[in-house]
Amino acid sequence: VAPLKVGIAGLGTVGAEVVRLIEQQNSILAARCGRGVKVVAVTARSKTKKRGVDLRGIDWMKDPLAVAQHPEVECFVELMGGVGDPALSSIEAALGAGKSVVTANKALIAKHGLKLAASAEKNGGALNYEAAVAGAIPIIKTIREGLAGTDINRVYGILNGTCNYILTRMELEGLSFEECLKDAQRLGYAEAEPSFDVDGHDTAQKLAILASLAFGTKVAQSAVSVEGISSIAAEDLRAAAELGYRVKLLGVAMRTATGIEQRVHPTMVPLSSSIAQVMGVTNAVTVDGAGIAPITLVGPGAGGAATASAVLADIADVARNVRALPFGRPVEKLKTTTKAPMERH
Ligand code: HSE
Repeated sequence: VAPLKVGIAGLGTVGAEVVRLIEQQNSILAARCGRGVKVVAVTARSKTKKRGVDLRGIDWMKDPLAVAQHPEVECFVELMGGVGDPALSSIEAALGAGKSVVTANKALIAKHGLKLAASAEKNGGALNYEAAVAGAIPIIKTIREGLAGTDINRVYGILNGTCNYILTRMELEGLSFEECLKDAQRLGYAEAEPSFDVDGHDTAQKLAILASLAFGTKVAQSAVSVEGISSIAAEDLRAAAELGYRVKLLGVAMRTATGIEQRVHPTMVPLSSSIAQVMGVTNAVTVDGAGIAPITLVGPGAGGAATASAVLADIADVARNVRALPFGRPVEKLKTTTKAPMERH
């Protein structure tokens, strides 16, 4: 069987790792999917940057649109980020041509996901975005496929690796917020604009995507009440510890009598709770469904390897011709929240 032909736009921390993993793990992919994967076209801002991956034999295209429109590309992998063009227009072009799309771009999915999903459905391609939420943790597939028959009441967790990394090092090593953020940037965890992480917007985007899948709501970041961690000082963390608590930035989406409530805020969790043990760049997501005990997935939430693992899983789905409905039909009402109440978990 011919390998799935892939085109990749964006060769940063994640993109370069995806190229490397496709090369390194092709026999595993071939065994699991019934066919291998071949990168046939790429593009990135710099052609000359050292990336430590072999791009010989791969067409270097002038821009992302050219990758999406490359005649051989069956699956367009968007790893540039950015909520508008060129990410949006190249994804639209690929879907419009009936190709499949894999993206790690949560901002774009949070804003345009439903529209892009409609195009994918109409034209027959897949729209896979596992890497957009919680790094290597397969939470999209878990909610969409694994819990397709479960009535979900609540989804919550630690959805931003950068914030959890900062909170962990501030507490355990007494480092300043700024020092920890610099390290998170150096390690490739933080967004290009790190205020998205520390002000809670990255968590809000991921939460809005999960809520949409879990509850059948429109993806609406604007309906999420958001408070980040930038005003938290090392003394706050010490004071919480003295009282038997640890501070975590949580995203919570839950069913209420007046609609689906979504909020992001620093939360005091008891030191003895399992969520308090989630340290460093690790993410944790809990899904609470009617008739089943809560299910929690814990794993690396950011960084090249974690994100690339999820991208490869999405490419594998395209290779084995799995077509999940990208989003369900919006059926539930969202509650527009104002200020987040403090809540213990
Ligand atoms: N900046 C994000 C984080 C990357 O720290 O979680 C993964 O989405």
